[in-house]
Amino acid sequence: MTPLLFSPFTIRNKTFKNRIGVAPMTRMSAAGDSIPREDVLTFLKTRAKNGAGLVYTEAVVTDYESAQGYPGQARILNQNQVNAWKTVTNEIRGHGAVSICQVFHCGRMAYEGINPANRVIAPSPVAPMQENPLTGMPYPVPEPMSRFDMDHVINGFAETAKGVAAAGFDGFELHCAHGYLLSQFLSAYSNRRTDTFGGSMENRYRFIREVIHAVKAVLPEELLFLVRISNWGIADMDVSLFSDAAEWQQMVTLFSEDPVDAISVSTYDYSQNGFDTGRTMARITRDVTDLPLLICGKIHDRKSAEHALADADLVLSGKSMLLNPDWVADIEADRELPLYGSEEAGVAYTTTPLP
Ligand SMILES: Cc1cc2nc3c(=O)[nH]c(=O)nc-3n(C[C@H](O)[C@H](O)[C@H](O)COP(=O)(O)O)c2cc1C
Repeated sequence: MTPLLFSPFTIRNKTFKNRIGVAPMTRMSAAGDSIPREDVLTFLKTRAKNGAGLVYTEAVVTDYESAQGYPGQARILNQNQVNAWKTVTNEIRGHGAVSICQVFHCGRMAYEGINPANRVIAPSPVAPMQENPLTGMPYPVPEPMSRFDMDHVINGFAETAKGVAAAGFDGFELHCAHGYLLSQFLSAYSNRRTDTFGGSMENRYRFIREVIHAVKAVLPEELLFLVRISNWGIADMDVSLFSDAAEWQQMVTLFSEDPVDAISVSTYDYSQNGFDTGRTMARITRDVTDLPLLICGKIHDRKSAEHALADADLVLSGKSMLLNPDWVADIEADRELPLYGSEEAGVAYTTTPLP
């Protein structure tokens, strides 16, 4: 019998040949044209060739005004950018894998000068506590978003969705995790608004709902629409973005009421005890939604991948996929495999092509 990890799984009109995917990984390799370096695009093709059933892009930023937070990020807003990504989606499809483009806006996780329009915007004028490791300086206090800003940001997501479809992706993922703009709206840690976009979980979700509906209005029906969520952010990593399991589940319920095809849960460690409930984050999520789930965090060998699948439908790997081109075959052969740390993953940001 085929082990569950290597059995197919279908979400709506898309069938994944196995349950193993490449997690989204930002590489900061794009030049002024916002197109990633050739070897970075090749990396994604190679992972599909080597057996991954699902390949995520790096997180692509939306508008040219305020979406960027790191140098060298990619966009899919013009024909040249669409053409570059088309070669990737074609090859991924040719290897029988599914391609998903992750899309985000960095919000307050940015610094002066990183965006052409030189603005840093967020739900509220609250900066992360820690310094920005890229600049060695405090993060700037962001400008609180006006209704005009919100509409501009929504437009950036919708325009990018058109690019994602034109480039031939099988799916679009709205990045609502890791303390970036949409996560900043969802968490009371960063959202201190007193209007209808702040306060209760329903209110904090309101802007995300507007984005979802604007994207869905332009995204062809055949493309999957996923969301990624987490209880942690890249800055102030130890902060729990949600107060307890009930608040997390309330958010998951809200997503499930919208036209979302699957939820990707991002953790440091898939097996960790979520909100002191004795249950994993995937299990806490699954308890309140029927949507398919993707899980990620320290899944590094056959045992952890099978264990993680107990509470989810697909497993994603970041660092193992990054550093080991043969990871899927190694999992299949049940080889002993290392758990990589973030220092080793630093190679992602160098110009050294990955095998
Ligand atoms: C180099 C690198 C870049 C990353 N960039 C992104 C990103 O663009 N979007 C995202 O949602 N997560 C990003 N992540 C997080 C991964 O998707 C994943 O959640 C994390 O590495 C934990 O999984 P792992 O233990 O298998 O590495 C990144 C991780 C790494 C190592």
